[in-house]
Amino acid sequence: MSPQPAAASLATPDEFRAALSQLAAGVALLTVHDLGEDAGPAEDAGMTATSFLSVSLEPPLVLVSVREDSRMDELLTRNDLWAVSLLGERHRTLASRFAMKGRLSDRLLFADTPHHRGPATGAPLVEGALATVECRTEQRIAAGDHTLLIGRVLEARVPSPDAQPLLYFRGGYRQLG
Ligand SMILES: Cc1cc2nc3c(=O)[nH]c(=O)nc-3n(C[C@H](O)[C@H](O)[C@H](O)COP(=O)(O)O)c2cc1C
Repeated sequence: MSPQPAAASLATPDEFRAALSQLAAGVALLTVHDLGEDAGPAEDAGMTATSFLSVSLEPPLVLVSVREDSRMDELLTRNDLWAVSLLGERHRTLASRFAMKGRLSDRLLFADTPHHRGPATGAPLVEGALATVECRTEQRIAAGDHTLLIGRVLEARVPSPDAQPLLYFRGGYRQLG
């Protein structure tokens, strides 16, 4: 007889992290052009994310998972247009800067990051990205301590088809080869 799974069994956070760190992932910069609250000033914001994935071809849908109490989650509750730039190996510093807690303001980070505005969303798109995808939120799903955002793809481009990807694997940034 096969052993019965223990109903109350849960992986610890350390076990969970260690196992999932074995998944090699592409690195993306999730961006939004925040229109501001109560006619406040518009501002760009960005967050490094590895949770980006493809969901559906027709209609074209993608998903990104955003920590519930983060600034990005708050911004994405009031702005339903956002973009993702898939980063290349030359974007390693950019990726770690946009992932830092208590980091420099997004305004300073973007001043240092060559980018242009996406035609469909107004969100910043990183120069030299392997691909850029512009989205409108189709669905928000609460999932544990994260929010899953399903986005309908408005524009998808491959501006740098020869660039090599930036990867995240076993807790560090890596390159192919
Ligand atoms: C490689 C890497 C991947 C990350 N992926 C995600 C992600 O998919 N979703 C997320 O919410 N945070 C992710 N983070 C963490 C955020 O980048 C970081 O917590 C956030 O920028 C902190 O700022 P905030 O709390 O001011 O938003 C990742 C961090 C790193 C280094």
